[in-house]
Formats: sequence, C-alpha cells, structure tokens
Amino acid sequence: MEQGLVRTCISLPEALLSQFDKVTQKRGYSSRSEGMRDAIRNTIVHYEWMNQVDGKRLGVISLVYEHHQRGLSENLARIQHERADLIISSVHIHLDHGDCLESVILQGEGKRIKELTETIMALKGVKYVKLNTISPSSSDQQPL
Ligand code: NI
Repeated sequence: MEQGLVRTCISLPEALLSQFDKVTQKRGYSSRSEGMRDAIRNTIVHYEWMNQVDGKRLGVISLVYEHHQRGLSENLARIQHERADLIISSVHIHLDHGDCLESVILQGEGKRIKELTETIMALKGVKYVKLNTISPSSSDQQPL
C-alpha cells in the first residue's frame, strides 16, 4: 500500500455501487478507489462552497428522495413549513414508482438556505441534493 493511504471499509447498497462502477468506467478512472477519492473531493469542495453561501440569495434546492421511506414525506413537508418565509415555490414530480424529484425555490439569507439544504441532506431516504444560488443584487452569480 502506498505511503499515506488509509484503507477503510464502507457499506453501500449493491445497486449504488454498481451505478458508481459504471460511472467510474465511463469516466476512465483507473480504479474504483480513484473514483471514490474524486467523489469524496467533490463532496468536500461542495461543502466548502456551501459554507461561503451568505448574504441575500436566490436559490434552488433540487432533491430526489424515496417516496416510500417511512416518515420522509411528512418530515420534508414539516421542514419546509417551518421555513415558509424562505420558500417562494416548489415543484414536485413523481419520477417513478419509488422516487420523487422536488425543486424548492428560495429567497432569503444564504446561511438559512444552506442550513435548510443540510437539514434535507441528512434525512434518510434522500438520495440526491443539490443547491444552486445566485446573489440577486449584483452580477456576482455563483452557481456551482
Ligand atoms: Ni412524488
């Protein structure tokens, strides 16, 4: 093993690993480990970017979640109702038998938009969350 590398063991759903392997193959990674390292780096970069979201913002949170996850739909509704002043609109699409796509359009303090995004990310059954924001007062647009 190369110096400075640490071996770790993670548990993943089989279908998720299979999808990941297809992506790493298509993108030409030399190994699954290299693909994992890149995915982890992307997560860190995105997290650091989210920490810089502050001031007045317009934002869109896109999420995909499992409709059948116990309590999740109710939790998502409650979380959004608690922040109703932040949310302008939302769109819900039933993707297939199991998954829903939701886009939540927001306007308000960036730190609160970030906090809402992280609250959604932490829910079990949420498969994908992406936040994009722009600063409404200038051409300083910072979508990721
Ligand atoms: Ni749905």
